[in-house]
Amino acid sequence: MSINMQELKKTDYEVYEAIVKEIERERNHLILIASENYASRAVLEALGSVFTNKYAEGYPEKRYYGGCEYADKVESLAINRAKELFGAEHVNVQPHSGTQANMAVYFSFLKPKDKILGMNLAHGGHLSHGATVNFSGVFYKSVFYGVNKDTGLIDYDEVRKLAKKHKPKMIVAGASAYSRILDFKAFSDIAKEVNALFLADIAHIAGLVAAGLHPSPVPYADFVTSTTHKTLKGPRGGMIMCKADYAKAIDKMIFPGIQGGPLVHVIAAKAVALKEALSNEFKEYQIQVVKNAKELSHELVNNGVRIISGGTDNHLMLIDLREKSITGKDAETVLDRAGITVNKNSIPYDDKPATITSGIRLGAPIVTSRKMKEPEMVTIARLISDVITNPNDSTVIQHVKDKVSSLCRSFPAYVDIEI
Ligand SMILES: Cc1ncc(COP(=O)(O)O)c(C=O)c1O
Repeated sequence: MSINMQELKKTDYEVYEAIVKEIERERNHLILIASENYASRAVLEALGSVFTNKYAEGYPEKRYYGGCEYADKVESLAINRAKELFGAEHVNVQPHSGTQANMAVYFSFLKPKDKILGMNLAHGGHLSHGATVNFSGVFYKSVFYGVNKDTGLIDYDEVRKLAKKHKPKMIVAGASAYSRILDFKAFSDIAKEVNALFLADIAHIAGLVAAGLHPSPVPYADFVTSTTHKTLKGPRGGMIMCKADYAKAIDKMIFPGIQGGPLVHVIAAKAVALKEALSNEFKEYQIQVVKNAKELSHELVNNGVRIISGGTDNHLMLIDLREKSITGKDAETVLDRAGITVNKNSIPYDDKPATITSGIRLGAPIVTSRKMKEPEMVTIARLISDVITNPNDSTVIQHVKDKVSSLCRSFPAYVDIEI
């Protein structure tokens, strides 16, 4: 069976057309956005299922609605698979997003104005780790650690110093733009020294952790939150893992605390993604993601492009454009013209605002989902370097665009979706 949208085409041509255009965009562009991935057909089928119709407030076997026997089935499958995959004592798969997973942890164990020590957004942290424009920076007092200016690495001595000085109630480890291994044990030791709770947010690296390619925080952290749609390759959503002692408070905070009915169709798709993540094929995929990211960063360096911290240990890297005389914003625009999709990103100690930036962030999850390997990374590195070095040369841009089209044809995506 192929996904077929004939009814949608008849009912709502405008939405049908937008979806067709999005499918074509995902097929015909080289997407290097580190936080995105291509979910499998099986995940998409579960996501598009009749479970979207079902109200299932509560948890398996403890619902506030009748007719939840099959909702119970998919939620229990998702929970048990996540427990097996990550070795967690307790799992909640209902958070609608990564931000809501973090919100549930904070709301369960912090009081307004309590202190959070998290990673500086401008150094690679996430909005929900205490940024002033986010609820986490409005409700709580936030203090930030960053990366060393010369090495681009987290300085754990600085984290310890800040923890001792500010005595936070919670320490948050996790990032959206940090390309090196996070030392969860070091964070946990520091948290213990100052009697803080420790939250590890593995939204970006969950797939790598699941495959054993990045050390797991589960043995060390009080709470581990994640998204399910990045390296984990599932539907858009969040999840929380925690020690059994915290289970009741976390579950109560997700529902009825901050969410209403769970998105059962999304939970069904999370269950599918977690089953896929338990397979050998998934492990092979993650191994290739890391190899591809390493090759891409290595070849970019060979092409004269500067990478923050000099390279990567995970699925992403941050390019420092200051020596290239182009801003992140302009690089994003001109790469897009050439068929390469990236996002502008602040680099540590950036002197430009977040709307302009001096960097771009690249990730290997999607190109690896398309089965590209190291030779293609060598090509992609050259193409990116050509564009950011010659942003005003339309011949170069056209040449790169042609090459991107040919790569996309050789490594097709979503070929079995009928449009
Ligand atoms: C480290 C980290 N945590 C949390 C999130 C938030 O996830 P969501 O966009 O689902 O709210 C992100 C998203 O980029 C992230 O990178």
